[in-house]
Amino acid sequence: MRDSPKVELHLHLEGAVPPSFVRGLARQKSIDISGIFDEGGNYRYRDFAEFLKVYEAATAPLTSPEDYHSLTRAVLAESAAHGVIYSETFLSPDFCGARDLGAWREYLHAIREAAEAAEAQDGIILRGIVTCIRHFGPDAAREVALCAAETAGDWVVGFGIAGDETAGKPRDFAWSFDMAREAGLRLTAHAGEWAGPQGIRDTLRDLRVERIGHGVRAIEDLALVDELAEAGIVLEVCPGSNVALGVYPGWRAHPIGQLYDRGVKVTVSTDDPPFFHTTMTHEYDRLSEAFDWDDGVFATLNRTAAEAAFCAPETRAQIL
Ligand code: ADE
Ligand code: ZN
Repeated sequence: MRDSPKVELHLHLEGAVPPSFVRGLARQKSIDISGIFDEGGNYRYRDFAEFLKVYEAATAPLTSPEDYHSLTRAVLAESAAHGVIYSETFLSPDFCGARDLGAWREYLHAIREAAEAAEAQDGIILRGIVTCIRHFGPDAAREVALCAAETAGDWVVGFGIAGDETAGKPRDFAWSFDMAREAGLRLTAHAGEWAGPQGIRDTLRDLRVERIGHGVRAIEDLALVDELAEAGIVLEVCPGSNVALGVYPGWRAHPIGQLYDRGVKVTVSTDDPPFFHTTMTHEYDRLSEAFDWDDGVFATLNRTAAEAAFCAPETRAQIL
């Protein structure tokens, strides 16, 4: 399914850094991050807590807007090679720009320039979702929200929250989400990946998001599943990520099939592809095997994703 056109709503820019790219930069800058790789040169982590540490360490060599320019070109070339025509990408001022608005603008400019070059060359469209990191706390999130609000427009289209879902409560971040909403940004939040159904309920109530990153543990509460379906809340499901991180023991055990069958608006994304040894092609192929999904189901998932994309209507028309 490599060539079929795909809409991806949930990709972390730093999480898409190929290990070879990071190693090259680290060598150039004499930064020792050898501990984050295994013997095969892949990222090494045993569980989610370690994944977050390795993820952060892998950003250490990304120290300039130029680095982000090259990274964005590399990531979009890889996505386009797997048929992705639209990529809504999480951008983190915590990792680029250090939440300093001036520096953030420079990083954003570099990422946007690279994205425009990729669009001209490969036809892939990127739109940004500025994201705060939950375990860095509410004060850091406010600064990130200010960066997001100041750069909101037709290219930075959303605001979100990633990181350790067990740190703090959604309401601790309500101020940031309110400010982003007032700036015209559309909202999504990671929930229901590590915390159960209550985390999703709290997120919907306190942050008033229209999409949920992951959301798969809603399956533990069928009343919530029905509510999600009725309210048309879109789930950015990343099955390969959930399997790699051990949320579910395998593809057949993943609840995306049941959520789809119960009428929830599910979409498919890769999250952090090199960390999870995945691509959009791999996700589609494994889902097709696990749930016997045919092209019609994947067409529905892509239409759902295009309709739920935070871009302007003219852009949506290009990807529908
Ligand atoms: N940041 C990058 N990947 C993530 C994940 N799977 N969960 C939470 N935060 C993340
Ligand atoms: Zn994510």
